[in-house]
Amino acid sequence: MYNLEKIVNRQNSSSVKYEEMVLKFGSNDMLPFWVADMDIKCPDFMIESLVKRAEHGVFGYTKRMPEFYNSVINWLDTRHEVKVKREELEYGPGVVFLLNMMIRNETKVGDQIIIQTPVYYPFKSVVEGNERVVLDNKLVNNNGRYEMNFDELEKMAKDPKTTMMLLCSPHNPVGRVWTMEELQRVADICLENDVLLISDEIHFDLVYKGNKHISVARLGDKYNKSSVVCTAPSKTFNIAGLHTSYCIIRDEEIMTRYRNELGLMDLNRSNCFSREITQTVYEMGADYVDNLVDFLEGNRDYTYDFIKENIPGIEPYKIEATYLLWMDCKGLGLSKDQIDDLFFKEAKIALDSGHWFGDNGEGFMRINLACSREMLAEGLDRLKDAVAAL
Ligand SMILES: Cc1ncc(COP(=O)(O)O)c(C=O)c1O
Repeated sequence: MYNLEKIVNRQNSSSVKYEEMVLKFGSNDMLPFWVADMDIKCPDFMIESLVKRAEHGVFGYTKRMPEFYNSVINWLDTRHEVKVKREELEYGPGVVFLLNMMIRNETKVGDQIIIQTPVYYPFKSVVEGNERVVLDNKLVNNNGRYEMNFDELEKMAKDPKTTMMLLCSPHNPVGRVWTMEELQRVADICLENDVLLISDEIHFDLVYKGNKHISVARLGDKYNKSSVVCTAPSKTFNIAGLHTSYCIIRDEEIMTRYRNELGLMDLNRSNCFSREITQTVYEMGADYVDNLVDFLEGNRDYTYDFIKENIPGIEPYKIEATYLLWMDCKGLGLSKDQIDDLFFKEAKIALDSGHWFGDNGEGFMRINLACSREMLAEGLDRLKDAVAAL
C-alpha cells in the first residue's frame, strides 16, 4: 500500500546526505548510509497535503490553530499514553535548537551538564558551544547491551555545579529503548539533586517489537518541574527539512522563559508547510507508521543476519529502536583510521564513524537502514567484499 521499497533519486535535491558526502568523505562515488534521514519516499497522503497547501497560492503569515495542537495532543495520547495540555506544548524549529535553548535559559556558563556517550554528537557540542562543561556518564557495554552507570550518575548529579542532564531516549546510536525502571531511576536522581532532565525523544515512534518507548512526560506529576521533553515527527515521517519539532514543558517558569526567547528571536511563527504537514501526519499517519516500523524491523533483521553470517570481525547489535544500527568492528583488528578507510575507501559506503559519538564509540560504525532492501543489500555486499579482501 505504501511502496516503501521505491527507490528515489535524491541527487540534485539539495540533500545533505548526498550533497555533503564529498565534503565529509572526499568522494561522491559512495552509497550513503550516514545522516539520519530516510531514503524512503513519503506516502501519497503527505504529498497531497503539501500540494494542496501549495495550490492555495497564498503563503502569508500563518498561525497554529487549535486543530494543529489537537493533532499533537492526540498523537501523544494514543501512541505514547502522554496526556498533555495545549499550554504545555511549544514549537521549536529543531530538537537541537531546543536543547540549545534549554541550556541557555536554564543553566549558567561554567555549569556541568551530564550526557551519556556514545551519543548523538551534537549533545557534546551544544554543551561545549554554550561554554558549559560536559560530565560524561559513559554507557556501559554489557556484551552488546548498553546500560547506564547509575552509581556514577548519582555522584555526578550530586555535585552542586551540575544543573542539567541531556538524555537520549530512545538512544542514538546504541539503539536502546530505556525501560520504565531505568527511566524512573534517572528521573529520581535528577529530581533529588535539582538537575533539570532534558529528554530528547525524537526517535520515539520507531520502536521494534518487544519494546515500548516510555516518555519522561508520562512518569508522573512529581517530575513536572524537573523535566522537559523535546521531540518531533521529523524522524518518523522523514520531514527533517520541514522544521516540525516541539517540546513539552510543564513548568510555567521554564515555559515562560522559553516562549520569551522564541518570541524575541521571532522564531515562534509557523512556516505554513511545517504546520500543514505536522497536522496531516498526526491525524492520518498511524497506519503508515505501523507499516514503516515493520519494514524497518525487516531491514534491521536482514542486516543483523547478513553480518552475522557473512562478515567475520563485525558484531551487529539488535537495536530496539531507530533505523540506525550500531556495529562493533573491533574484531577486525584495525585502528579507527583503518576502519574508516575500509568502509569509506574500500567498500565505498558512507557511514557515521563510531568515534564521532565519543571516545567509547571508537571501533564502531553506525549504519542507516532506512532505504530500500536493494540499496541496503548492495551496501552490505560491498562491505562483505571489502572485509574479505583484507
Ligand atoms: C537523538 C537526536 N536528536 C536530535 C536530532 C536532530 O534533530 P533536529 O533536526 O530536529 O535538530 C537527531 C538527528 O539525527 C537525533 O538523532
